[in-house]
Amino acid sequence: MRSASEAASSAATARPLEYLSGFGNQFATEALPGALPEGRNSPQRCPYGLYAEQLSGTAFTAPRHANRRSWLYRIRPAALAGEFRRLAHPGVLAQFSDLPAPPDPMRWSALPVPQEPMDFLDGLLVAGGTGPSDAHSGCAIYWYRANRSMQGRFFYDADGELLIVPQLGRLRLASELGLLELEPQEIAVIPRGVRFRVELLDAGARGYVCENFGAPLKLPDLGPIGSNGLANARDFLTPVAWYEDRTGPMELVAKCGGALWSAPLDHSPLDVVAWHGNHAPYKYDLRRFNTIGSVSYDHPDPSIFLVLHSVSDTAGVDALDFVIFPPRWLVMQDTFRPPWFHRNVASEFMGLIHGRYDAKAHGFEPGGASLHNCMTGHGPDAETFERASGADTGAPEHLTDTMAFMFETRSLIRPAPHALALPQRQRDYVRCWDGLARRFTPDARELR
Ligand SMILES: [Fe+2]
Repeated sequence: MRSASEAASSAATARPLEYLSGFGNQFATEALPGALPEGRNSPQRCPYGLYAEQLSGTAFTAPRHANRRSWLYRIRPAALAGEFRRLAHPGVLAQFSDLPAPPDPMRWSALPVPQEPMDFLDGLLVAGGTGPSDAHSGCAIYWYRANRSMQGRFFYDADGELLIVPQLGRLRLASELGLLELEPQEIAVIPRGVRFRVELLDAGARGYVCENFGAPLKLPDLGPIGSNGLANARDFLTPVAWYEDRTGPMELVAKCGGALWSAPLDHSPLDVVAWHGNHAPYKYDLRRFNTIGSVSYDHPDPSIFLVLHSVSDTAGVDALDFVIFPPRWLVMQDTFRPPWFHRNVASEFMGLIHGRYDAKAHGFEPGGASLHNCMTGHGPDAETFERASGADTGAPEHLTDTMAFMFETRSLIRPAPHALALPQRQRDYVRCWDGLARRFTPDARELR
């Protein structure tokens, strides 16, 4: 026979997904009527016999505009867990600082969806990262592959927040603060410390994760762009309160200090019946991005494609940028329209979610990745250069079938040793520029 609380949990599960709109808002949501205490964060006795618990995502004294915290009203406090023991995981690295960072341009084909049983946590495979995980700056970058839901296990990351970028397969993220459903071309952010489970809604799943060690991701200021544009705050969706009241042998996996740790649990930690605050998961549909570009000549820098960033303590220099290259019109006249040849003081990890990327004719495939570290020369391949150099720039071009992204950091992204050795690494990547012949004609300024 089911208990009343189990019935309430089932009723909450059966509800259609509901989201709260806006970025960084002080949300307030409850899965049972009156579960949120009135007027106090921590009353002497909480409604329904719940426990009050604060989850801090920034320093207590962070400025109000940057302060992130939520108050959770839950069936049991998060303190209830067994002893943590180190959990070996070949796809997670504790330390990047001592790894070599070869300045070669690098590219990988997509990793296959696995045949053997593998959940989201099992299927994490680190591609590279910056510095130590407790630097409160920089990131680690992973591929994920999975063919089954996390069963009886939950995860939280004390080292950073998780930016999840699906490329294949839909996910359901069941978190302490509610449910998010996610499909390719959408992204989600799970804040530091939030416990969650990844369920698969399709047979296989694949994508990317950026573990942001630094300040929580936020929307950029818009400067001369004005009050609208790029990613609009109203398109960010946070789940309403939802809980499950389940007992039984379960596992809590934590990432802390670069390593994974496992502790036994006798109940689901997804037992938050009500919460309020702004330290909460959210999702965003990249197809909602209001893309801005040149309508005369030349390109703005790719910072014009910035979705979210983690600011550093140096003004204007980000610890992490999340940038996308979405469908858009190219109308710039007498201009080389694809991304130009360049060298960047920041380091760039790119992935392709959908379609093709306009700077490469071949080789950069959905699910694949590239890494161009600080000052590594790169740009359009020879075929793209030839095509774009001869294109009619009097006519507009509509890029439609594309969605690429970039994790860009001020720090070197040091590739993981196993990522360098993967069979999917395209060791001939640099050959894509071989066709760029010497075109210099010192006796003729106009190209013949
Ligand atoms: Fe680049």
